Amino acid sequence: MSTPTLDNEAVRKAYRRWAPVYDHTFGRVAAVGRRRAVSYINTREGRVLEVGVGTGLSLPAYKPHLKVVGLDISPEMLAKAQTRARRLDHVLGLAQMDAAGLGFADGAFDTVVAMYVMTVVPDPVAVMRELARVCAPGGEVILVNHFSQEHGLRGWVEHKMAPLAETLGWHPVFETERVMVCPELALQEQTPMWPMGLFSMLRFNKRPERPAAQG
Ligand SMILES: C[S@@+](CC[C@H](N)C(=O)[O-])C[C@H]1O[C@@H](n2cnc3c(N)ncnc32)[C@H](O)[C@@H]1O
Repeated sequence: MSTPTLDNEAVRKAYRRWAPVYDHTFGRVAAVGRRRAVSYINTREGRVLEVGVGTGLSLPAYKPHLKVVGLDISPEMLAKAQTRARRLDHVLGLAQMDAAGLGFADGAFDTVVAMYVMTVVPDPVAVMRELARVCAPGGEVILVNHFSQEHGLRGWVEHKMAPLAETLGWHPVFETERVMVCPELALQEQTPMWPMGLFSMLRFNKRPERPAAQG
């Protein structure tokens, strides 16, 4: 059975529908992972890029010592994030942007986080490469995401749901291997989370650049 592919237009369309109800539906289901990732990021310093910031549910939770930039491809989701960020001095800016083509310099951020985004984007490999590129050497890339199972009841349900990807706006079948594509990112942590390990937090360290070989 072939899995439908999402393109950016299908994603925008899906999130145009989700935006008015997101905070009270999936936004709530996703709260545990979001809290966990943000409380970890709050122990860090410097510039944070949140990719696929959605309605900005995470934004008030970042500590004020951080400098946070958010982006999203959906104007309707982003409009809600902009309202939420109005009085948050630690949010430097929010932009409409495609995660597969980030308009930031290499190494521009100390922490790059994408929560519940990788299963949504049409080209996860391109997005992973962009997350790695804009992360500073020695910095961290953090994912919170649904990763599917091959077997068991959950695996069976996920495979049954696979054809609904376009309507749902995300891929129920999405293996961890699909984000393990950047050799410069070393996996530090992989923590299954509530409910029943449906979501996991993955933390990668971007290897410091090797000094150029002496001639
Ligand atoms: C499930 S929501 C997650 C929102 C938020 N991170 C949260 O924790 O609630 C997925 C978000 O990713 C955004 N998105 C999907 N594809 C994207 C892309 N290519 N570039 C940027 N954002 C994208 C969607 O518009 C949506 O807001």
